[in-house]
Amino acid sequence: MSKETQLKVEAIKNGTVIDHIPAHVGIKVLKLFSMDNSNQRVTIGLNLPSSALGAKDLIKIENVFINEDQANQLALYAPKATVNQIENYEVVKKLNLSLPDFISAVFKCPNTNCISHGEPVDSGFKVLTKKADIQLKCKYCEKVFSREIVTECGA
Ligand code: CTP
Ligand code: ZN
Repeated sequence: MSKETQLKVEAIKNGTVIDHIPAHVGIKVLKLFSMDNSNQRVTIGLNLPSSALGAKDLIKIENVFINEDQANQLALYAPKATVNQIENYEVVKKLNLSLPDFISAVFKCPNTNCISHGEPVDSGFKVLTKKADIQLKCKYCEKVFSREIVTECGA
């Protein structure tokens, strides 16, 4: 694609760029990390053309840096996302994501009878991978759910 036709989202000076988010997942990622409540400037690109993904979402958050653990939580939604740390307009670090072994306090257990709902406890799931399939096992009721079911149930 020529420079003239390329879709541009303005470069940032300092902060984080989450790139290569699958199309339609960007808004979920924003909510998951409460970036929609941030007072920092957040720029969002939805359905941007991508040679690798066809279409992608992209999020730029100024003056916020996310650590490796936080980045890995993203992997559940967007395994191919790239997290770029920007300092003084330069990409100083590029994190490739890997799935965490365990995920705490993000998702509710889809099992309505699960004891975690009645108690003031943090949810917790062991992450199981069978080939390309990702499943989550609740540490309380020990039921196993597909990734989509858990992420749809919401944070
Ligand atoms: N970026 C930005 N502000 C900067 C520098 C980079 O918003 N000051 C964004 C770029 O627009 C891009 C991402 O950060 O979306 C990564 O930048 P870069 O590594 O330069 O781009 P690519 O080489 O295209 O990245 P990749 O190889 O991960 O696709
Ligand atoms: Zn449970």
